[in-house]
Amino acid sequence: MAQIIDGKSIAATIKSELQIESAAFISRTGTIPHLALLLVGDDPASQVYVRSKAKTCEEIGFRSTILNLPATTSQEEVLDVIHSWNGNKLIHGILVQLPLPRHISEHKIIETISPSKDVDGLHPENMGRLVLGLPGFVPCTPAGIIELLSRSGISAQGKHAVVVGRSNIVGKPIANLLYQKSPQANAVVTICHTGASGTLRDFTRQADILVAAIGVANRITADYVKEGVAVIDVGINRITDVAKKTGYRIVGDVDFESVLPKVSAITPVPGGVGPMTIVMLMRNTLEAAHRFTRNATINR
Ligand SMILES: NC(=O)c1ccc[n+]([C@@H]2O[C@H](COP(=O)([O-])OP(=O)(O)OC[C@H]3O[C@@H](n4cnc5c(N)ncnc54)[C@H](OP(=O)(O)O)[C@@H]3O)[C@@H](O)[C@H]2O)c1
Repeated sequence: MAQIIDGKSIAATIKSELQIESAAFISRTGTIPHLALLLVGDDPASQVYVRSKAKTCEEIGFRSTILNLPATTSQEEVLDVIHSWNGNKLIHGILVQLPLPRHISEHKIIETISPSKDVDGLHPENMGRLVLGLPGFVPCTPAGIIELLSRSGISAQGKHAVVVGRSNIVGKPIANLLYQKSPQANAVVTICHTGASGTLRDFTRQADILVAAIGVANRITADYVKEGVAVIDVGINRITDVAKKTGYRIVGDVDFESVLPKVSAITPVPGGVGPMTIVMLMRNTLEAAHRFTRNATINR
């Protein structure tokens, strides 16, 4: 029978671990980890995400600050906020909620965040460190996937991992993490994208571990997977469902029901990868505070 990977429960366990670590850190250093969250515009989904991140900070014992600027804010004004947070010794982590309004360059904003406060792990320095296998902040969703695999007893060692999707936030970093020469990884990795859309199935059917980060509802069906594959479904897609009060439901990039009889393990949507992202953000924030206090001690 397939193992249904319970991301909700694994995330809850990590959250409890972080509460204990955070309390120990605060009592030892007197420093309260502090995450600053910047939201530009009034997108309801982004507002929900930002509030939920702030609430999780509170539950773990961190401080958080939310700054919600209007959608008309100029790029210069956003950069001013980032510069001021970079220089603020009471802020350890900075997160800019994406997407930003079209007149603001995401690259420019991300590049301006101090790499030592880049708890989303998207700064080129942290991405470079990830590729080189050096310590740095790892993007939260890919970090969560590695944690899910390891806590579910699924070894990537020597396996063929196929990643569908090459975004900077999921596809590229998870592919890079999976091939690192480390005990949790060391897989042989293939990356697929729209360039392979006509032949996608030829690649995905070879996967021992399949990571779907496509953004297309139910794109991976039973004929795209081989028997015994472990499937990590990153997708979060809304589809119409008249039976629901909201008129929609959330599904992944994998057609769960059709692949289930073939897989050895699978993450459900919702309740798989999703809950991991936020706890990995919290872990990065605690790590940023650790680094800050270590550097402060060295520079004293
Ligand atoms: N669980 C979480 O916490 C979490 C976090 C982030 C994202 N997500 C979800 O994960 C999904 C992916 O997110 P993303 O930000 O990585 O999306 P994205 O930036 O839109 O990237 C999608 C990737 O999939 C590829 N792709 C699209 N259609 C394809 C096809 N038919 N065949 C092969 N490749 C195809 C694209 O190829 P090209 O590069 O060629 O265009 C692209 O590389 C979304 O549903 C998103 O909501 C979830």
